Amino acid sequence: MNKKWWHDKIAYQIYPKSFLDTNGDGIGDLRGIISKLDYLKDLGIDIIWLSPIYKSPFVDQGYDIADYYSIAEEFGTMEEFDELLDEAKKRDMHIVMDLVANHCSDQHEWFRKALADPEGEYADYFYFVKGKDGKEPSNLRGYFGGSIWEPVPGTDRYYLHMFAKEQPDLNWENPKMRRDLYDMINWWLEKGLAGFRIDAIINIKKTPEFKSYEPDGPDGMVFCTKMVEEAQGIGEFLQELKRETFDKYDAFTVGEVFNMKEDELREFIGEEGHFSTMFDFSAHSLTFGEHGWYDAKPIEFTSWRDTLLKSQKDVESIGFMANIIENHDEPRGVSRYLPEHAQNDAGKKMLATTSILLRGIPFVFQGQEIGMENCRRSDISEYNDINTLDQYQLAMDAGCTKEEALQCCYENSRDNARTPMQWSDGPNGGFTTGTPWLAMNPNFTEINVEDQLNRPDSVLSYYKKLISLRKSEEYKEIFTYGSVEPAFTDLPGIFAYWRVDEETGRKILVAGNFGNQPQELRLEASAQDNPETVLLLSNDESVAYRDLILTLKPCQCAVISV
Ligand code: GLC
Ligand code: CA
Repeated sequence: MNKKWWHDKIAYQIYPKSFLDTNGDGIGDLRGIISKLDYLKDLGIDIIWLSPIYKSPFVDQGYDIADYYSIAEEFGTMEEFDELLDEAKKRDMHIVMDLVANHCSDQHEWFRKALADPEGEYADYFYFVKGKDGKEPSNLRGYFGGSIWEPVPGTDRYYLHMFAKEQPDLNWENPKMRRDLYDMINWWLEKGLAGFRIDAIINIKKTPEFKSYEPDGPDGMVFCTKMVEEAQGIGEFLQELKRETFDKYDAFTVGEVFNMKEDELREFIGEEGHFSTMFDFSAHSLTFGEHGWYDAKPIEFTSWRDTLLKSQKDVESIGFMANIIENHDEPRGVSRYLPEHAQNDAGKKMLATTSILLRGIPFVFQGQEIGMENCRRSDISEYNDINTLDQYQLAMDAGCTKEEALQCCYENSRDNARTPMQWSDGPNGGFTTGTPWLAMNPNFTEINVEDQLNRPDSVLSYYKKLISLRKSEEYKEIFTYGSVEPAFTDLPGIFAYWRVDEETGRKILVAGNFGNQPQELRLEASAQDNPETVLLLSNDESVAYRDLILTLKPCQCAVISV
């Protein structure tokens, strides 16, 4: 495997709107990000991914871009962005932006021109499709509910939008549109951007006939992934995209890829793959309900662990996955994956350990490093996220009570990860001197950076130790390139694996006890005569490793080099 500059890096996702506000308007901004670069450097971060900061009406929080070449006023100016690039560079850090290329905003110049002249050049930048029998071309339901088709005023056509109706899909079949996108991408890379996180990319390829399918719900519609799964030939677009842009700059790219076809992993992230890496969503997919959040499935420990370990095996000979426990579209990982008895600091550290020491590129989402949790709201009006509003309604329509529907949102809402960063126990958690655009999680008085920064037993201090272990001169190689061998899978509640350096024979055991009973892990005899057998890290000083037996009480974890 050819070594790449990003293989041993640690990434951090910033959700700019909720990171840090410096001018009191309640919205996080670029100044705020610049002022926290040292904090991130100290945490051990190398790559920073910024969720969209482009000009946008924020119907979908910036994932609806009105101008790919400008920074949203809410966040600051292009000068400030350039300053961010400079300051990051000084600290040997890399900035990655979101590339939202499946769709833009209905406020984008292209779409306005298309509406103004539905027969003109720009109509072909989108999917303007004739209706069938005076109705929508097909019965597909979009990601945020409702038809993917919206009438083009004054015509018999409809435009396609897989997400909100304010997010018209771009027509990738049009070479001129693609060229415009490539020019834009190169413009950013030329500025010194290190790469992109590639949004919703699987959706760019449609089936040409736009047919209807057997409905999967009482609305007579069917989920739009049905079409995505049938569409053939996305690889041609993605290879061209790579050739025309990323390749020229040795850029780092991480794909948001759902619904990939089986056996396509190599095409996506192999040596010649479309992207450097892509997120491993296998664990997240376990909770998907058949109809929505209201029938989402709870996490069952064994299948969660086995799914992650299987995913590690699948990718091992192909490339690298990007490992996450949460992002801006998911609930907080500690609330989702930790069993009730482990929803505490020890459990949070344990989850960090088993996740961050997997093979792949770790992505930490803002606030994860201090153990931020899901946030309970008492009324749907307290939510902002477009997806949450749709899912709440879906739950109510399916006969849930208000309490039940709110419980679904508490467990699944994208707003759980979007509540502002908790910097201190001061007013608004130190996030803003004004009114936060989205109400804080009230637990900022207990969970905040200021409290954890200088407290050696805090979750934050542990994240620093964990990341620095992964990046240490001595263990960097094995944590980056070593293989992953599942271990002790027969012990209830144990999530353990060996990282193995095939060349030197060195092995490191990573183990956590997610169960509610103590467990004994018996190491091989070969560990005995090895003077280098050492406990590298643990979330509890009382973890016992004696006579080749590692005893883990509930919520204890350990990393042992053999
Ligand atoms: C991706 C983003 C999500 C957004 C959607 C549409 O899934 O992560 O936040 O709503 O794409 O752009
Ligand atoms: Ca601000």
